[in-house]
Amino acid sequence: MKRTFFATMIGCSLFAGSLFAKEACELELKSGVDAAGNKNPMAYNLKKIEIPASCSEFKINLTNDSGLDRKTFGHNVVVTKAADMQPVSVDGIAAGLDNEYVKSGDKRVIASTKVIGSGEGPVSLTLKVSELSASESYKFFCSFPGHTAMMQGDLVVLKAADAKKS
Ligand code: CO
Repeated sequence: MKRTFFATMIGCSLFAGSLFAKEACELELKSGVDAAGNKNPMAYNLKKIEIPASCSEFKINLTNDSGLDRKTFGHNVVVTKAADMQPVSVDGIAAGLDNEYVKSGDKRVIASTKVIGSGEGPVSLTLKVSELSASESYKFFCSFPGHTAMMQGDLVVLKAADAKKS
């Protein structure tokens, strides 16, 4: 295990440039863990996702470590404009687990994943950054019934000038 770790570290330092470039447009979002790293069945580990303007696509990979199963306490990720979060969530609950708690054909949904239980996944969504605006407010959230209030965060596309600063 240790040997694998160090081998990975060496690999990372050798290929750091290309790895960082790739990872900046892809993100692991954990559920069942809060932002402080504590176990919390109804939490994501991130409150904000910032998408570099340089990415043409941005992928979010969701994992679930809640200890609870998909049917009784599953999690997904849905991305909408901030103003659409609540109505999309309400319609998603009506759509039910068979539809991954997203209304079929909902045009307000920019992207969404399936619902996963603990230990399942990762499940992914991919955003086309050209279809997002740096001046728009977006949200990522879980549409499982009762989860949206706790499991949500802001998603922003950084302006090109912001990306250069960081
Ligand atoms: Co959830």
